[in-house]
Amino acid sequence: MSEKFNVTAMPVGVVGLGLMGSSIVAALLISGHPVKAVAPVAADAENARERISNQLHKCVTAGLIHSSDEFEGNLTISRDYEVLKPCQVVIECVIEKRDIKSQVYKKITSVVDRDCIIGTNTSAIPISELQNHIDFPERFLGIHFAEPAFMTRFLEITCGKLTEETFANRIFKLAHEWGKEPTLLKKDIRGFITNRLMYAMYREIFYLIENGTATREDLDKAFRYDAGSWMTLMGIFRRMDYMGLKDFDAILKSIFPKLSNAASVPDIMQTLVQEGARGIHNDNGLYPYDPGEGRQWDEAFTRFNKDIHHLAANYSEENVKEQLKS
Ligand SMILES: NC(=O)c1ccc[n+]([C@@H]2O[C@H](COP(=O)([O-])OP(=O)(O)OC[C@H]3O[C@@H](n4cnc5c(N)ncnc54)[C@H](O)[C@@H]3O)[C@@H](O)[C@H]2O)c1
Repeated sequence: MSEKFNVTAMPVGVVGLGLMGSSIVAALLISGHPVKAVAPVAADAENARERISNQLHKCVTAGLIHSSDEFEGNLTISRDYEVLKPCQVVIECVIEKRDIKSQVYKKITSVVDRDCIIGTNTSAIPISELQNHIDFPERFLGIHFAEPAFMTRFLEITCGKLTEETFANRIFKLAHEWGKEPTLLKKDIRGFITNRLMYAMYREIFYLIENGTATREDLDKAFRYDAGSWMTLMGIFRRMDYMGLKDFDAILKSIFPKLSNAASVPDIMQTLVQEGARGIHNDNGLYPYDPGEGRQWDEAFTRFNKDIHHLAANYSEENVKEQLKS
């Protein structure tokens, strides 16, 4: 990992300042980058600065930075894509719609250099599909953050069919400057890694609740107190090794045929999305919320995230290897 980055002299652009966009702006600011943030729609421009300040305050609460003042000075917010001109990397973070994303790519590529790396934070649209809508597609790839982007070490880099590896390797190296433990997918696949794993689990829990096997509370409890007790240290393969493997062939053979392979969206989710539910963000979700209770969960998650961030640091890949040597 020879290449050193002078991030303070490396402007990075973010287009789309919603939930993830504002969180990614905060992550890039506290990593030292000057950030050029574009609000593609008027609604965004109105509350973008307040939204990003809130994210930076969460960074202060979590002990990642002492104060947000010095970082706010490094931030440019505009509706004008021209501000992206000096950027070496631009991250698109607009709604999960192909046509909207491709309109945004046209505006980005009309102002940035041809070797500016353009990344998308899409959750599930294959990179190779989006790549058909961008000039010089070799410099386009998936740069997938998890919420809150400034807190988690997660970052998924996905190459599309036309992506040149030099650009992917550059983002992989730069991601370490962002405090990430990045994964690099050399092959494009819908949902990439994390969402394929998570959605397989979402399918199974909806199956179990719809056929009355377990309650919502018990499904969450089982996941919290089993997977939640090892995930940050082990991951799934390491966990199987830890469990000893001897019965796995028999168990996999008997359970795999019984798992859900439903292809349709569960009724409960269709209903919630149709009625505009946004979970803790509007106190309407898979759980009932008293007015304002969603915000309490958001605050509890910020406190929890502070602890898990430091716990993950103690058990980072490097630290575990060091501990194993000693
Ligand atoms: N929410 C998550 O936890 C999460 C996690 C990882 C990736 N993502 C992905 O990040 C992207 C943004 O998701 P989000 O949760 O921040 O959504 P959001 O709804 O909070 O923000 C979407 C943004 O899209 C922009 N937008 C809306 N209409 C537009 C239009 N007509 N033209 C141009 N821009 C428009 C606005 O800037 C808006 O702020 C999506 O691709 C999503 O799949 C979301």
